[in-house]
Amino acid sequence: MHIKRRRGWEIPENLATPEAVFLSRRSLLGGAAGLAAASAFGRSAAQAEDALYPAKRNEAYTLDRAVTAERYSGDYNNFYEFGTSKTVLPAANALKTNPWTIRIDGLVEKPFEIDVEDLVRKTGLEERLYRHRCVEAWSMAVAWTGFPLAKLVALAKPTSGAKYVQFQTFMDKAVAPGQRQFFYPWPYVEGLTMAEANNDLAFMVTGIYGKPLPNQFGAPIRLAVPWKYGFKSAKSLVKVSFVAERPKTFWEGLQSSEYGFWANVNPAVPHPRWSQASERVLGTDQRVPTLIYNGYGEQVASLYTGLEKERLFV
Ligand code: MTE
Repeated sequence: MHIKRRRGWEIPENLATPEAVFLSRRSLLGGAAGLAAASAFGRSAAQAEDALYPAKRNEAYTLDRAVTAERYSGDYNNFYEFGTSKTVLPAANALKTNPWTIRIDGLVEKPFEIDVEDLVRKTGLEERLYRHRCVEAWSMAVAWTGFPLAKLVALAKPTSGAKYVQFQTFMDKAVAPGQRQFFYPWPYVEGLTMAEANNDLAFMVTGIYGKPLPNQFGAPIRLAVPWKYGFKSAKSLVKVSFVAERPKTFWEGLQSSEYGFWANVNPAVPHPRWSQASERVLGTDQRVPTLIYNGYGEQVASLYTGLEKERLFV
């Protein structure tokens, strides 16, 4: 008997969204995005975006569950800059995301700033199906469009002293009401080791569901590190810095006993206030068991060899 060994993140056929359904949705959504872009930015920007989305699917990344419909994932977001409720969509739409410049600095050959559209022209785009597991024990599965973070690392040309990559979200109290709340350690900062950043799973995201990112998902560019709790995947990035010391992250600044630097998904290590053993899948009434490294252990477990003394899962 031929047994196909399924990798951690692969989907049993019967759970997959039929491709035809997904593709027709994609063309509908793509069309809507194109029209919206045309009215907002004029014809040429819309044409440029139409050419980029939907990007070719990288078939190496499949799922163990159906893709979460946008009506669920797009109306249940964590984006504290725009408030602590899950309905941040209307507030997030105040953020102007085009044009958008991202700065690459720190321990690199030569710091530079680049417009996100120019960056994407250099790196190209691909689509990947990824799971996303929030530390609050809900999850979703989505089709991100973006490029491997390793491509940005290569463009940045870090020097040998660079040990970590630090990600920083925009700071603008005038448009982000959450940033007027002084007890949060703004701006939102996250970090990865260089080895994590160069792992092929670490993905810079510019689109979802075959179209440019809607604002509430972290437009125009965010991180997706699917083997870690969702708070590591910082949104609306303005700066990527290569540094020697471990960055102090937003959530560590708020509550380091509950939210550490590593934050790898592990069902066996509970949050101090709740279990991480299972997760509620957005848009369903299902709870499913959570997998170590969110099912991506085959690709990332080796990153942590020799680091067993660290708080890898909190
Ligand atoms: N990035 C910024 N800048 N601000 C945030 O509040 N929330 C994080 C992460 N990135 C957050 C952020 C958390 S807790 C999660 S679970 C994910 O974004 C949510 O991503 P989603 O809205 O695409 O589901």
